[in-house]
Amino acid sequence: MKDLKKYIDSMDITKEAPITDPERQYYYIKKAREYVKAASIEAGRPLTFCVTTFGCQMNARDSEKLVGVLEQIGYQEEVDEDKADFVIYNTCTVRENANMRVYGRLGQLKHAKKMNPHMMIGLCGCMMQEPHVVEKLKKSYRFVDIIFGTHNIYKFAELIATRYESQRMVIDIWKDTDKIVEDLPSERKFSFKSGVNIMFGCNNFCSYCIVPYVRGRERSRNPKDIIREIETLVADGVVEVMLLGQNVNSYGKNLEEPMTFAQLLTEIEKIDGLERIRFMTSHPKDLSDELIEVMKNSKKICKHLHLPVQSGSTEILKKMNRRYTKEQYLELVDKIKAAVPDISLTTDIIVGFPGETEEDFLETMDVVKKVRYDSAFTFIYSKRTGTPAAIMENQIPEAVVKDRFDRLLKEVQDISAEVCSVHEETVQSVLVESINDHDDTLVTGRMSNNLLVHFKGDESLIGKIVDVKLSECKGFYYLGEMQ
Ligand code: SAH
Ligand code: SF4
Ligand code: F3S
Repeated sequence: MKDLKKYIDSMDITKEAPITDPERQYYYIKKAREYVKAASIEAGRPLTFCVTTFGCQMNARDSEKLVGVLEQIGYQEEVDEDKADFVIYNTCTVRENANMRVYGRLGQLKHAKKMNPHMMIGLCGCMMQEPHVVEKLKKSYRFVDIIFGTHNIYKFAELIATRYESQRMVIDIWKDTDKIVEDLPSERKFSFKSGVNIMFGCNNFCSYCIVPYVRGRERSRNPKDIIREIETLVADGVVEVMLLGQNVNSYGKNLEEPMTFAQLLTEIEKIDGLERIRFMTSHPKDLSDELIEVMKNSKKICKHLHLPVQSGSTEILKKMNRRYTKEQYLELVDKIKAAVPDISLTTDIIVGFPGETEEDFLETMDVVKKVRYDSAFTFIYSKRTGTPAAIMENQIPEAVVKDRFDRLLKEVQDISAEVCSVHEETVQSVLVESINDHDDTLVTGRMSNNLLVHFKGDESLIGKIVDVKLSECKGFYYLGEMQ
């Protein structure tokens, strides 16, 4: 980060902008600093920002990059959105309700903007990659200042500078990219753990899913860049990384020198000072024996695997284009449990996919009973325009879906409470993440298997890995005592 600041300071903004990135962005960061400085002198106070993130870990990581740029150009963080001068929504569109929330909140922002002449509104993320969304914004939400997508987030500083220069709505959406820009600023939410992108995009085209359309084709980051980033993070106090990709198990296939995900993990394991490695998400069809072997022998990979099943019915899985059967999934689970007996398994399940019969649904319930997940995210199928499933016949009536959803949720929760309680009275190593939300004499930490435990402690423990005895299971979390 120190070097980055030096680079940015050394840019000559009286000249033309460099053509290549990241230098071009360093130039615009310096330029935007001047604009923000002038605006804050005019306002008679420092200008503030608030970034709100919807959706998955990818978006959370992208937001850290947005915050990195905003802080570099002189904005200060403000947690209360109503008070911020620059409000940014990093959006998700995986289900329809995510979209509705954004439109609802935008309506409120229109009013806030009338009251604050320095206010800017930025929209980015997956929803912006949908042409009909941008059309709607252009027509009915003229007060938005900057709109950009998932492929050019690295251009954020340039877009802000452009907005200051043009005084008009700036829209920059790309359909796809094969470009990965390294060495840009980013501001971590936690000092001791960090997400690390290992790949972008998705090539799987599950028939219900919009992600491949809004995140583009799969591309892997160079292993050297990943290792270098993690080494820098570790030097800065990070002990746990979460490797991020829509399908980490297909990492490395499109690299000039192909490499498997298991090989990448083996390299990351060697980094001194790094204590814990997590990753998500794993697609069952690509989970190799090599990976299971690496997980079995690793000292750092956490005992947790998120393995989305989506449905337990082979028929539905076929329509979903998941490319595995119920039996293959269950075999895979057995293999993993045999290799890593204390592993915690979690999953994603969709209820009400077009054509799902009661029998299909019972197959899903059967998988849940057989695998006994530690926890499961359950979703009601949401029709996404442009995906193959949106035009499939036999969309399921809402009442039927709701009934299945409730039955599934109950089963998942009952099993989860049983599975989670098996660790009672054991001593686990725990990474302390925060002071407890409800009781400030307690701290909250995360075990290797991703379960939370609350125990007596203070702020000085945050970021440390300590041994905790799990005295009482409270369903989805524990109360414990530090040893
Ligand atoms: N790449 C990950 C998941 C990304 S989206 C994977 O393949 O597992 C996260 C979850 O959202 C998915 O696992 C799926 O369960 C859910 N999801 C995606 N599209 C959906 C839709 N149209 N309706 C309901 N849930 C959906
Ligand atoms: Fe969507 Fe499937 Fe890709 Fe996951 S693997 S992001 S569910 S298309
Ligand atoms: Fe949503 Fe985009 Fe993630 S659609 S789930 S934020 S990749």
